[in-house]
Amino acid sequence: MNIEEKEKIEIEFWKNARHENPSEFSVHSFLSKTLQLQTFHKKIHKRIQFIRNSKNVLELGSGQGWASCFLKKWFLPHSKFTVTDISPYAIASVKYWEEIYDIKIDETHACKSYQLPFDDNSFDLIFCYAAAHHFVKIEETLNEVKRVLKKNGSCIFFYEPTSSKLFYKLHMKYVNSLDPSTPEDVLIPAEMEKIANRVGLTYYHFYDVESQHIRSLFLGFYFKFISTFGFLKRILPSSSDFVFVNED
Ligand SMILES: C[S@@+](CC[C@H](N)C(=O)[O-])C[C@H]1O[C@@H](n2cnc3c(N)ncnc32)[C@H](O)[C@@H]1O
Repeated sequence: MNIEEKEKIEIEFWKNARHENPSEFSVHSFLSKTLQLQTFHKKIHKRIQFIRNSKNVLELGSGQGWASCFLKKWFLPHSKFTVTDISPYAIASVKYWEEIYDIKIDETHACKSYQLPFDDNSFDLIFCYAAAHHFVKIEETLNEVKRVLKKNGSCIFFYEPTSSKLFYKLHMKYVNSLDPSTPEDVLIPAEMEKIANRVGLTYYHFYDVESQHIRSLFLGFYFKFISTFGFLKRILPSSSDFVFVNED
């Protein structure tokens, strides 16, 4: 599948999704994002050193923008938030989450992660949640991140499926069987580190399987198993957060 076709699927998903299109805000959407929120909330605390004191925040691949609304409401109420997604139909639902959290997102844009309509050195914090493995153009995205991040600013990719090269194809098969509605990739940490080095961002990688335990009984056992034998996380399909800091 070429990139245009893939991006069209991503864009149209939010137009046609039964429970997540912009014409209504469904209980289904509220409950599913609220479940994700438990994971996001834990992760905010784990990565708080990269988040606190951020005055200008940008979210990439935001979907309906619930994560930014939550972060603004409870952690960064005085910060400026800009929420972006490739799909204008996702952005059209940000209003529902603003209403739930009783906050205002300062700017919203439908744009690609690798073509950001912002000036150089604009943001202290850039983040995405469960989205970078949809971006495909990771190196181009991190080049844009580097351009629009302020000095010492951070970019966090939360909750990404990861694997060593050895299990890449297997994990790809698995993640795409879970939800075939949009094509997904799996990130290989060793490759991510090389990209970060080429782009000139300082790279941190955190395996974070703890929050996966709630998803199903099987996954609970699987992630318990790979947490007990920590070295397995480096080889087998896993889940990670990545942080990139603009130290130059
Ligand atoms: C799995 S969804 C996650 C959405 C949201 N973060 C959430 O947790 O509900 C991935 C998101 O990435 C967006 N996306 C895919 N490719 C993109 C790109 N190149 N640039 C920006 N957003 C993109 C999709 O439209 C989708 O909203």
